[in-house]
Amino acid sequence: MVKGIKHKVTLNNGTEMPVFGLGVWKSEAGTETENAVTWALETGYIHIDTASLYKNEDSVGKAVKESGIPREQLFITTKVWNTDQGYKSTLKAFDDSLEKLGMDYVDLYLIHWPNGDLSVKTWKALEEIHSQGRSKAIGVSNFMVSHLDEFLPHCNVKPAVNQVEFHPYLQLRELQSFCQTNGIQLEAWAPIMKGHVSEVKELIEIGEKYGKTPPQVTIRWELQLGVITIPKSVRQHRIVENADVFDFELSATDMEVIASLEKNYRYGMDPYNFDF
Ligand SMILES: NC(=O)c1ccc[n+]([C@@H]2O[C@H](COP(=O)([O-])OP(=O)(O)OC[C@H]3O[C@@H](n4cnc5c(N)ncnc54)[C@H](OP(=O)(O)O)[C@@H]3O)[C@@H](O)[C@H]2O)c1
Repeated sequence: MVKGIKHKVTLNNGTEMPVFGLGVWKSEAGTETENAVTWALETGYIHIDTASLYKNEDSVGKAVKESGIPREQLFITTKVWNTDQGYKSTLKAFDDSLEKLGMDYVDLYLIHWPNGDLSVKTWKALEEIHSQGRSKAIGVSNFMVSHLDEFLPHCNVKPAVNQVEFHPYLQLRELQSFCQTNGIQLEAWAPIMKGHVSEVKELIEIGEKYGKTPPQVTIRWELQLGVITIPKSVRQHRIVENADVFDFELSATDMEVIASLEKNYRYGMDPYNFDF
Protein backbone atom coordinates (compact mmCIF):
# COMPACT_ATOMS: atom_id res chain seq x y z
CA MET A 1 0.00 0.00 0.00
CA VAL A 2 1.43 3.37 -1.04
CA LYS A 3 0.92 5.66 1.91
CA GLY A 4 1.53 9.12 0.48
CA ILE A 5 3.74 11.43 -1.53
CA LYS A 6 6.73 10.69 0.72
CA HIS A 7 6.28 6.91 0.65
CA LYS A 8 9.59 5.06 0.12
CA VAL A 9 10.75 1.61 -0.88
CA THR A 10 13.94 0.01 0.35
CA LEU A 11 16.41 -0.67 -2.46
CA ASN A 12 18.68 -3.75 -2.58
CA ASN A 13 21.47 -1.88 -0.74
CA GLY A 14 19.20 -0.59 2.04
CA THR A 15 18.78 2.93 0.61
CA GLU A 16 15.24 4.25 0.87
CA MET A 17 13.86 5.70 -2.36
CA PRO A 18 10.62 7.73 -2.67
CA VAL A 19 8.24 6.01 -5.08
CA PHE A 20 7.07 9.29 -6.60
CA GLY A 21 9.07 12.24 -7.89
CA LEU A 22 9.41 15.05 -10.41
CA GLY A 23 11.22 14.58 -13.73
CA VAL A 24 12.94 17.58 -15.31
CA TRP A 25 13.85 16.43 -18.85
CA LYS A 26 13.10 19.28 -21.29
CA SER A 27 12.66 21.62 -18.38
CA GLU A 28 14.74 24.66 -19.30
CA ALA A 29 17.65 25.67 -17.10
CA GLY A 30 16.94 28.81 -15.08
CA THR A 31 13.51 30.04 -14.04
CA GLU A 32 11.54 27.19 -15.62
CA THR A 33 13.35 24.43 -13.73
CA GLU A 34 13.77 26.47 -10.56
CA ASN A 35 10.02 27.16 -10.46
CA ALA A 36 9.08 23.55 -11.24
CA VAL A 37 11.31 22.18 -8.48
CA THR A 38 10.17 24.86 -6.02
CA TRP A 39 6.47 24.14 -6.71
CA ALA A 40 7.10 20.42 -6.44
CA LEU A 41 8.87 20.75 -3.09
CA GLU A 42 6.06 23.04 -1.84
CA THR A 43 3.55 20.37 -2.91
CA GLY A 44 5.42 17.77 -0.85
CA TYR A 45 7.55 16.05 -3.52
CA ILE A 46 10.85 14.88 -2.02
CA HIS A 47 12.38 13.28 -5.12
CA ILE A 48 13.79 15.02 -8.22
CA ASP A 49 15.13 13.22 -11.32
CA THR A 50 17.69 15.09 -13.42
CA ALA A 51 20.68 14.18 -15.63
CA SER A 52 23.77 15.90 -16.94
CA LEU A 53 22.14 15.72 -20.40
CA TYR A 54 19.26 17.92 -19.22
CA LYS A 55 21.63 20.84 -18.55
CA ASN A 56 19.57 21.89 -15.56
CA GLU A 57 21.39 20.31 -12.61
CA ASP A 58 22.44 23.78 -11.43
CA SER A 59 18.82 24.98 -11.44
CA VAL A 60 17.71 21.87 -9.54
CA GLY A 61 20.46 22.49 -6.98
CA LYS A 62 19.55 26.15 -6.62
CA ALA A 63 15.85 25.45 -6.01
CA VAL A 64 16.70 22.68 -3.53
CA LYS A 65 19.03 24.97 -1.62
CA GLU A 66 16.57 27.86 -1.58
CA SER A 67 13.77 25.59 -0.34
CA GLY A 68 15.57 25.35 3.02
CA ILE A 69 14.57 21.67 3.21
CA PRO A 70 17.38 19.68 4.83
CA ARG A 71 19.28 17.83 2.10
CA GLU A 72 18.88 14.47 3.82
CA GLN A 73 15.09 14.72 3.52
CA LEU A 74 15.33 14.81 -0.28
CA PHE A 75 16.22 12.23 -2.92
CA ILE A 76 18.16 13.49 -5.93
CA THR A 77 18.97 11.37 -8.98
CA THR A 78 21.34 12.27 -11.79
CA LYS A 79 22.88 10.30 -14.66
CA VAL A 80 26.09 9.92 -16.61
CA TRP A 81 25.61 10.78 -20.29
CA ASN A 82 26.77 8.48 -23.10
CA THR A 83 29.72 10.60 -24.21
CA ASP A 84 31.11 10.52 -20.66
CA GLN A 85 31.00 6.73 -20.31
CA GLY A 86 34.25 5.00 -19.35
CA TYR A 87 36.01 4.83 -15.98
CA LYS A 88 37.93 8.10 -15.73
CA SER A 89 35.47 10.16 -17.76
CA THR A 90 32.61 9.03 -15.54
CA LEU A 91 34.49 10.01 -12.37
CA LYS A 92 35.02 13.45 -13.92
CA ALA A 93 31.39 13.70 -15.11
CA PHE A 94 30.19 12.82 -11.61
CA ASP A 95 32.34 15.55 -10.06
CA ASP A 96 30.90 18.01 -12.59
CA SER A 97 27.35 16.95 -11.76
CA LEU A 98 27.93 17.34 -8.03
CA GLU A 99 29.44 20.75 -8.57
CA LYS A 100 26.50 21.91 -10.70
CA LEU A 101 24.03 20.55 -8.16
CA GLY A 102 25.97 22.23 -5.36
CA MET A 103 25.78 19.00 -3.37
CA ASP A 104 28.34 16.70 -1.83
CA TYR A 105 26.39 13.56 -2.68
CA VAL A 106 23.45 12.34 -4.76
CA ASP A 107 21.01 9.65 -3.75
CA LEU A 108 21.09 7.77 -7.04
CA TYR A 109 23.54 7.86 -9.95
CA LEU A 110 22.54 6.04 -13.14
CA ILE A 111 24.19 4.96 -16.39
CA HIS A 112 21.83 6.78 -18.76
CA TRP A 113 21.97 4.28 -21.69
CA PRO A 114 23.62 0.87 -22.13
CA ASN A 115 26.88 0.75 -24.05
CA GLY A 116 28.28 -2.80 -23.97
CA ASP A 117 31.77 -3.22 -22.55
CA LEU A 118 32.16 0.51 -22.04
CA SER A 119 29.29 0.44 -19.53
CA VAL A 120 31.24 -2.14 -17.50
CA LYS A 121 34.07 0.41 -17.17
CA THR A 122 31.53 3.11 -16.34
CA TRP A 123 30.09 0.84 -13.67
CA LYS A 124 33.50 0.46 -11.99
CA ALA A 125 33.46 4.25 -11.56
CA LEU A 126 29.93 4.14 -10.15
CA GLU A 127 31.00 1.40 -7.71
CA GLU A 128 33.88 3.60 -6.55
CA ILE A 129 31.60 6.63 -6.16
CA HIS A 130 29.17 4.47 -4.20
CA SER A 131 31.89 3.06 -1.92
CA GLN A 132 32.91 6.64 -1.11
CA GLY A 133 29.32 7.45 -0.09
CA ARG A 134 29.03 10.07 -2.80
CA SER A 135 26.02 8.29 -4.31
CA LYS A 136 23.82 6.44 -1.83
CA ALA A 137 22.72 4.02 -4.55
CA ILE A 138 23.79 3.31 -8.13
CA GLY A 139 21.85 1.93 -11.03
CA VAL A 140 21.20 1.80 -14.75
CA SER A 141 18.71 3.19 -17.22
CA ASN A 142 17.33 1.83 -20.49
CA PHE A 143 18.76 -1.63 -19.82
CA MET A 144 16.58 -4.39 -21.28
CA VAL A 145 16.81 -8.05 -20.19
CA SER A 146 19.65 -8.99 -22.55
CA HIS A 147 21.65 -5.90 -21.52
CA LEU A 148 21.27 -6.93 -17.87
CA ASP A 149 22.13 -10.56 -18.63
CA GLU A 150 25.45 -9.45 -20.09
CA PHE A 151 26.11 -6.71 -17.54
CA LEU A 152 25.26 -8.26 -14.17
CA PRO A 153 28.09 -10.85 -14.09
CA HIS A 154 30.59 -7.94 -14.17
CA CYS A 155 29.06 -6.11 -11.20
CA ASN A 156 30.47 -6.23 -7.67
CA VAL A 157 27.58 -4.02 -6.63
CA LYS A 158 24.30 -4.99 -8.22
CA PRO A 159 22.35 -2.08 -9.79
CA ALA A 160 19.69 -0.92 -7.33
CA VAL A 161 17.41 0.64 -9.95
CA ASN A 162 16.65 0.34 -13.67
CA GLN A 163 14.92 3.44 -15.07
CA VAL A 164 13.15 2.67 -18.36
CA GLU A 165 10.39 3.98 -20.57
CA PHE A 166 7.29 2.45 -19.01
CA HIS A 167 3.59 3.28 -19.29
CA PRO A 168 0.28 1.65 -20.27
CA TYR A 169 1.41 1.22 -23.90
CA LEU A 170 4.84 -0.22 -22.91
CA GLN A 171 4.62 -2.55 -19.92
CA LEU A 172 7.82 -4.60 -20.43
CA ARG A 173 6.48 -7.62 -18.53
CA GLU A 174 9.58 -9.76 -19.08
CA LEU A 175 11.79 -6.96 -17.76
CA GLN A 176 9.44 -6.37 -14.83
CA SER A 177 9.73 -9.97 -13.74
CA PHE A 178 13.50 -10.10 -14.41
CA CYS A 179 14.05 -7.03 -12.22
CA GLN A 180 11.80 -8.39 -9.50
CA THR A 181 13.65 -11.71 -9.45
CA ASN A 182 17.01 -9.93 -9.33
CA GLY A 183 16.09 -7.35 -6.68
CA ILE A 184 16.37 -4.41 -9.08
CA GLN A 185 13.77 -1.69 -8.59
CA LEU A 186 12.01 -0.64 -11.80
CA GLU A 187 11.44 3.08 -12.38
CA ALA A 188 9.23 4.54 -15.14
CA TRP A 189 10.20 7.35 -17.47
CA ALA A 190 7.58 8.90 -19.76
CA PRO A 191 5.17 7.50 -17.15
CA ILE A 192 2.22 9.50 -18.52
CA MET A 193 3.19 8.88 -22.16
CA LYS A 194 4.41 12.48 -22.52
CA GLY A 195 0.87 13.66 -21.75
CA HIS A 196 -0.82 11.31 -24.28
CA VAL A 197 -2.58 9.27 -21.57
CA SER A 198 -5.18 12.07 -21.64
CA GLU A 199 -6.33 10.79 -25.07
CA VAL A 200 -6.87 7.16 -24.01
CA LYS A 201 -10.59 6.34 -23.76
CA GLU A 202 -10.17 3.59 -21.15
CA LEU A 203 -8.11 5.86 -18.89
CA ILE A 204 -10.68 8.66 -19.24
CA GLU A 205 -13.48 6.24 -18.32
CA ILE A 206 -11.63 4.80 -15.33
CA GLY A 207 -10.80 8.33 -14.17
CA GLU A 208 -14.46 9.36 -14.28
CA LYS A 209 -15.29 6.63 -11.73
CA TYR A 210 -12.76 7.93 -9.21
CA GLY A 211 -12.99 11.67 -10.01
CA LYS A 212 -9.40 11.55 -11.34
CA THR A 213 -7.68 12.56 -14.60
CA PRO A 214 -5.97 10.04 -16.94
CA PRO A 215 -2.49 11.15 -15.74
CA GLN A 216 -3.59 10.57 -12.14
CA VAL A 217 -5.03 7.14 -12.99
CA THR A 218 -1.81 6.18 -14.78
CA ILE A 219 0.50 7.39 -12.02
CA ARG A 220 -1.62 5.50 -9.49
CA TRP A 221 -1.47 2.35 -11.65
CA GLU A 222 2.34 2.52 -11.69
CA LEU A 223 2.47 3.00 -7.93
CA GLN A 224 0.15 0.05 -7.35
CA LEU A 225 2.35 -2.07 -9.63
CA GLY A 226 5.37 -1.17 -7.49
CA VAL A 227 7.03 0.87 -10.22
CA ILE A 228 8.63 4.17 -9.22
CA THR A 229 7.22 7.06 -11.24
CA ILE A 230 8.58 10.54 -12.04
CA PRO A 231 6.11 12.54 -14.17
CA LYS A 232 7.50 15.79 -15.55
CA SER A 233 5.71 19.09 -15.67
CA VAL A 234 6.78 22.72 -15.55
CA ARG A 235 3.23 23.91 -14.77
CA GLN A 236 2.23 24.38 -11.17
CA HIS A 237 -1.34 23.09 -11.58
CA ARG A 238 -0.08 19.87 -13.22
CA ILE A 239 2.67 19.38 -10.64
CA VAL A 240 -0.09 19.51 -8.02
CA GLU A 241 -2.46 17.35 -10.12
CA ASN A 242 0.14 14.63 -10.71
CA ALA A 243 0.76 14.34 -6.98
CA ASP A 244 -2.91 14.05 -6.07
CA VAL A 245 -2.90 10.26 -6.37
CA PHE A 246 -2.66 9.09 -2.79
CA ASP A 247 -6.34 9.20 -1.80
CA PHE A 248 -7.74 6.43 -4.00
CA GLU A 249 -7.05 2.83 -4.93
CA LEU A 250 -7.64 1.35 -8.39
CA SER A 251 -9.68 -1.86 -8.26
CA ALA A 252 -8.21 -5.14 -9.52
CA THR A 253 -10.57 -4.90 -12.51
CA ASP A 254 -9.36 -1.42 -13.44
CA MET A 255 -5.73 -2.55 -13.04
CA GLU A 256 -6.53 -5.33 -15.54
CA VAL A 257 -8.13 -2.92 -18.00
CA ILE A 258 -4.94 -0.84 -17.95
CA ALA A 259 -2.82 -4.00 -18.30
CA SER A 260 -4.81 -4.78 -21.46
CA LEU A 261 -3.68 -1.49 -23.09
CA GLU A 262 -0.18 -2.87 -23.75
CA LYS A 263 0.97 -2.18 -27.34
CA ASN A 264 4.77 -2.43 -27.08
CA TYR A 265 4.72 1.21 -28.21
CA ARG A 266 7.58 3.63 -27.45
CA TYR A 267 7.57 7.43 -27.33
CA GLY A 268 11.35 7.46 -26.88
CA MET A 269 14.28 5.63 -28.46
CA ASP A 270 14.56 1.85 -28.49
CA PRO A 271 17.39 0.71 -26.16
CA TYR A 272 18.32 -1.87 -28.84
CA ASN A 273 18.51 0.73 -31.58
CA PHE A 274 19.45 4.28 -30.68
CA ASP A 275 21.80 6.70 -32.35
CA PHE A 276 23.21 8.88 -29.58
N1 LIG B 1 16.43 7.71 -18.38
C1 LIG B 1 16.01 8.18 -19.52
O1 LIG B 1 16.53 7.86 -20.61
C2 LIG B 1 14.88 9.15 -19.52
C3 LIG B 1 14.26 9.52 -20.74
C4 LIG B 1 13.22 10.42 -20.70
C5 LIG B 1 12.78 10.90 -19.48
N2 LIG B 1 13.40 10.56 -18.31
C6 LIG B 1 12.97 11.10 -16.99
O2 LIG B 1 11.59 10.79 -16.79
C7 LIG B 1 10.87 11.99 -16.59
C8 LIG B 1 9.46 11.85 -17.10
O3 LIG B 1 9.45 11.50 -18.48
P1 LIG B 1 9.06 12.54 -19.64
O4 LIG B 1 9.31 13.92 -19.16
O5 LIG B 1 9.78 12.12 -20.84
O6 LIG B 1 7.53 12.27 -19.92
P2 LIG B 1 6.17 12.32 -19.04
O7 LIG B 1 6.46 12.64 -17.63
O8 LIG B 1 5.41 11.09 -19.37
O9 LIG B 1 5.39 13.52 -19.73
C9 LIG B 1 5.77 14.84 -19.64
C10 LIG B 1 4.87 15.64 -20.59
O10 LIG B 1 3.51 15.58 -20.15
C11 LIG B 1 3.01 16.89 -19.88
N3 LIG B 1 2.21 16.78 -18.65
C12 LIG B 1 2.66 16.67 -17.38
N4 LIG B 1 1.64 16.54 -16.52
C13 LIG B 1 0.51 16.56 -17.26
C14 LIG B 1 -0.86 16.47 -16.93
N5 LIG B 1 -1.26 16.32 -15.67
N6 LIG B 1 -1.78 16.54 -17.95
C15 LIG B 1 -1.37 16.67 -19.25
N7 LIG B 1 -0.07 16.77 -19.62
C16 LIG B 1 0.87 16.71 -18.62
C17 LIG B 1 4.23 17.77 -19.72
O11 LIG B 1 4.00 19.09 -20.15
P3 LIG B 1 4.23 20.39 -19.21
O12 LIG B 1 5.61 20.33 -18.67
O13 LIG B 1 3.99 21.50 -20.16
O14 LIG B 1 3.18 20.29 -18.15
C18 LIG B 1 5.23 17.10 -20.66
O15 LIG B 1 5.02 17.53 -21.99
C19 LIG B 1 11.71 13.04 -17.34
O16 LIG B 1 11.37 14.36 -17.04
C20 LIG B 1 13.09 12.62 -16.93
O17 LIG B 1 13.39 13.06 -15.60
C21 LIG B 1 14.44 9.68 -18.33
